[in-house]
Amino acid sequence: MKTTYLKISQTTNPAELDVLLQPAAEVIKRGGLVAFPTETVYGLGANALDEAAVRAIFDAKQRPADNPLIVHLAEATDMSKYARQIPEMAGQLAAKFWPGPLTLVLEKADVIPLLVTAGSNTVTLRVPKHPIAQALMRLAGVPIAAPSANTSGRPSPTMAEDVRADLDGKIDLIIDGGPTDVGVESTVLDLVLDPPTILRPGKITIEDLRPLLPNVQLLSDMKKISQESLPVRSPGLKYKHYSPNSTVVLIHAKDEASWVAKVNEFVSIAAQKNQQVAIISQFAEPQPLSAHHLILSDASNYAHQLFHAFRQFEQQQVSLILVQAIPETGLGRAVMDRLTRAADEEIWV
Ligand code: TXA
Ligand code: MG
Repeated sequence: MKTTYLKISQTTNPAELDVLLQPAAEVIKRGGLVAFPTETVYGLGANALDEAAVRAIFDAKQRPADNPLIVHLAEATDMSKYARQIPEMAGQLAAKFWPGPLTLVLEKADVIPLLVTAGSNTVTLRVPKHPIAQALMRLAGVPIAAPSANTSGRPSPTMAEDVRADLDGKIDLIIDGGPTDVGVESTVLDLVLDPPTILRPGKITIEDLRPLLPNVQLLSDMKKISQESLPVRSPGLKYKHYSPNSTVVLIHAKDEASWVAKVNEFVSIAAQKNQQVAIISQFAEPQPLSAHHLILSDASNYAHQLFHAFRQFEQQQVSLILVQAIPETGLGRAVMDRLTRAADEEIWV
């Protein structure tokens, strides 16, 4: 299949956007696959009500069939079409956080094919904020099922070129809307569980949710408390994720001196083997800077650049990526969630 590219400048006004995106909406309507930017990461979209189109998403991504898809809506009011027995809280959360990077797990309405939900009677809904995503959904006039637009297991795409690297020739269209804003995927909040549970941390943090949901909890905390296996609430969580082909080592350093010592150790071993090392850290040390040292000042910069950096380092034939762990607060929780999944090894120094 030949993949078409559509580049859209950030300065395009809404009326022009509608004209430019009309052909993309037609692709969705006739059952094709369109990669498009959202405020989190690029999504690979298809008509959620068209089983053949949804099946094509799984094929293009080589996604396991037991990992359900998020359904993207143009308007919060569409929620009642695709979910049922909606708790009042869902409306309040939607009013506060939609459009935006919050995904709600609700009871599924019958119109949503079981293929989308991987056989589950729950469905995940989200109203994205990106103007391209919004216009596309409005023009297509159907709910859009969209996982991240990467091959399963690879880092999520935050730029159109990342989508191209994984899916060129496998999908109909890639809309290039520039780099995404947040860089990590949406917060997935399960409202069917009691108490409400964050299955995947994201830009909307537990601290953001607590004023509306005082009893909200993190699935990761529940796992730490309970040794017995929890019901599989988010099937995607069990798969290896976000991994470049380079080896990723996540280093929790108590101070800069310990960090520098550990990094130097890895660098000298790699040098003996003639292997390239890349570093992603808040600390500017060790000096002199390696050609592949990406210094990121805070959690928001980590979120924004991490996935693309993984892909770049991999392309530059880097064997080993050393990443400095950051505090698990605010957006740092989402960043650390992705890092611990991507890491081949985690060490404390
Ligand atoms: O920011 C995002 O959420 C991006 C953009 C494109 O919207 N999408 C995204 O989709 O990250 P994906 O498919 O890569 O991740 C969806 C996650 C998976 O971990 C999946 O298992 C979980 O949501 N999920 C989907 N439906 C679910 C359901 N009914 N119950 C529990 N978890 C569900
Ligand atoms: Mg994904």
